[in-house]
Amino acid sequence: MNCGLNVKSIFRYFVSIAVVLAATVTVAAKTDSRAVSFDEGWRFSLSDSPEMSVPGYDDSSWRKLNLPHDWAIEGNFSESNPSGTGGGALPGGVGWYRKTFRLSPSMRGKQVYIDFDGAYMNATVFINGHELGTRPYGYASFSYDITPWLKPDGENTVAVRVDNAEQPNSRWYSGCGIYRHVWLRAVDPVHVAMWGVFVRQDSVTARKADLTVITDIENSSAKDCKARLITEIISPDGKAVASANSSFSVKAGQTVTLESPVTVSDPDLWSVRAPNLYKVKMRIIRDGRTIDEYTLRTGLRRLEFDARKGFALNGERMKINGVCLHHDAGALGAVVNKAAIERQLRILKAMGTNAVRSSHNPPAPELLELCDSMGIMVMDETFDMWRKQKTSHDYARYFPEWHEKDLRDLVVRDRNHPSIIIWSIGNEVLEQWSDAKADTLSLEQANLILNFGHGKDMLAAEGDSLSVNSLLTKKLADMTRSLDPTRPVTAGCNEPDPGNHLFRSGALDIIGFNYHDDWFKDVPSNFPGKPFIVTESVSALQTRGYYRMPSDSMYIWPERWDKPFYDPSFSCSSYDNCHVPWGNTHEGTMRHVEDNDFIMGQFVWTGFDYLGEPTPYGWPARSSYFGIVDLAGFPKDSYYMYQSRWRPDIDVLHLFPHWNWKEGEDVDMWAYFNNADEVELFLNGESLGVRKPDGKNYHVMWRVPFTPGELTAVSRKDGREVARDTVRTASAPYAVRLTPDRREINADGSDLSYVTVEVVDKDGILCPLAENEITFAVEGAGFNAGVDNGSPISLEPFKSDRRKAFYGKALLIVQNDGTSGDIFVTATSPGLVTDRLTINSLPRSK
Ligand code: GAL
Repeated sequence: MNCGLNVKSIFRYFVSIAVVLAATVTVAAKTDSRAVSFDEGWRFSLSDSPEMSVPGYDDSSWRKLNLPHDWAIEGNFSESNPSGTGGGALPGGVGWYRKTFRLSPSMRGKQVYIDFDGAYMNATVFINGHELGTRPYGYASFSYDITPWLKPDGENTVAVRVDNAEQPNSRWYSGCGIYRHVWLRAVDPVHVAMWGVFVRQDSVTARKADLTVITDIENSSAKDCKARLITEIISPDGKAVASANSSFSVKAGQTVTLESPVTVSDPDLWSVRAPNLYKVKMRIIRDGRTIDEYTLRTGLRRLEFDARKGFALNGERMKINGVCLHHDAGALGAVVNKAAIERQLRILKAMGTNAVRSSHNPPAPELLELCDSMGIMVMDETFDMWRKQKTSHDYARYFPEWHEKDLRDLVVRDRNHPSIIIWSIGNEVLEQWSDAKADTLSLEQANLILNFGHGKDMLAAEGDSLSVNSLLTKKLADMTRSLDPTRPVTAGCNEPDPGNHLFRSGALDIIGFNYHDDWFKDVPSNFPGKPFIVTESVSALQTRGYYRMPSDSMYIWPERWDKPFYDPSFSCSSYDNCHVPWGNTHEGTMRHVEDNDFIMGQFVWTGFDYLGEPTPYGWPARSSYFGIVDLAGFPKDSYYMYQSRWRPDIDVLHLFPHWNWKEGEDVDMWAYFNNADEVELFLNGESLGVRKPDGKNYHVMWRVPFTPGELTAVSRKDGREVARDTVRTASAPYAVRLTPDRREINADGSDLSYVTVEVVDKDGILCPLAENEITFAVEGAGFNAGVDNGSPISLEPFKSDRRKAFYGKALLIVQNDGTSGDIFVTATSPGLVTDRLTINSLPRSK
């Protein structure tokens, strides 16, 4: 067992532990078709007192806001914030949310639930002073039946205490507050239960899809009930293509489960190219009247995972070209905004990404809905830790009591999403390794820790051949499969040796490695017959716009996991020549994945930069260097390496870096390209030579003494030009230039336009070293939701009317305010020509 190296990986956690006013009225995607938004009209206070749960408490001085909300992103960066730089160096604390409301007449006499998509963390919910419960896990979705305490005709008060005071509890930025949507759901006492439908895909081919629709029907009334359930499958073009009709009876206070087999002929399959979606519509009919109607979306597809040949979707072999993503949206913090997630996915999809990993926790429902509709596959992950903690106050302390519920809720919430192809039951959990305590436990102690429903039977049956850690693996994997037998289970493991307790359990359907490229080749012999995926890869370090030469020397930063690291630049080179010791270059891992059919694919760490974990640096660094795209959403150069490999459908040629250097200085010019057999570089019209792929690297390089002017790369296939790319020397900063990603947005109160802000010279060339501070005015039907520039070390607040350019660029996020009309943006900077922009907010077309 390769303990030496991997014990380091364990301890790396302990050393690496060393955020903006969003008044949003978000139009969210409904997690349940019967729910109505409960986001508007809350009051918030960053303080704590037990009386705050009491209906009559005077909250009139509290701040008014609409959910979702993250109070940490509104705070200031500080070295003394308890989250540490690992958690983004933003504040924690305890906050209260209160909302007073009257029940709409249509909800009276119904069973009423309040549904939370997620609150970080330890959210305790009260209705009219009655405590409904506390949900510790900040990424879990949860719901309460509030019917018994509701005043049908009077005022009702919901109060929520969110406690993120004990820190650190996360290895990355978590955010604080009710950062996802909240819903009210009023249903007939006899209804399809929340997350109560599983459209199980028993067999799917191009000719037919055999499905079993499994429906839980809850009777919350005091009377037994007899009724009918009608299930209809609606095709992407809106036609009912299959149906089932069953009579049932359900006793008072009980739940009945109905199984309806249905077959869809000639289905329009879901795929990454054609993400076709079906609707499944359920109606409960009693005495001729529809008393409950529930609709969900799903897609029909066939997944195959093969130990030798890799992965296939609907019979088509493909690599899983994935990236890992944390949940924050840069300057918006943890606040869920569908437009922000959509932009991230759009940028990643344009790079060729076909999969994301929700690292390392249950994602927002919006991410999954978008992946369904955009054709992006998902590895849905539950936990970053099990019983053994990684930070002093993390989820490990709740795991014994909560893991069953949290795991179950994730799987039943998410299992109808066609985008999900794999479940991951954990990331780099420390249970991979044994420890004396766990191995010497008695059966009774072990059962207690494992909290098995039928633990004793299981332990007795398994004998002592498995460690407690392996049994825990088996428990989690078996639970997942019992809730969804159609998808495989894996875990992200940074112990590649077969002695890893998770592997030894035999319970993982797919072997998942985090890093350890040198071990890939032994997978077929170490794990015969098991499909293999690189659950996490690369961890290269890059600062957009910063280049350290010579580019062919490698920077392994930090030198070792346990060695403090410092470099005065607080930057990492954007040539692909800087990575952590446990990782590899982007190109290095790509080579392994491309050259080996048995490797199903990879999830690169990470698609976007995220708040927190600024490895290899400490304060004042406060966000990651790992992203292929920076925190503001500007691609780093490696983006084009991926695009060149993952998008053979387009001709890619990317020449970098910029062309603003000191006279005579040797500059390494790199080009990523595809669909070509050579690239030629020209300096001011003169050829600097032709370069061809060497079978090892995915880039070509020229070392060029700097002289101002213009560099052009031309790629050719069979002597014919395929593409060209040019970089030019910029003169002095002259003007600000604004370029929105969308000139028209929805007037829905949440839609966003991301405006790229550039400092350019008199010819419109980006000034690649400019740091000018730019001030923004946003008027009309929108507001400034945040500013950024992608720098991991900027301590400027994200909620501000100004931002310095970072390597020539900054970002302004413009949000519609709920009204339709024009939004006027002005960007000024001393000494530069002002730029202006109009964005139109249009009423929703539907
Ligand atoms: C991995 C871990 C990730 C992140 C990454 C940085 O080991 O799973 O969460 O910490 O390292 O390289």
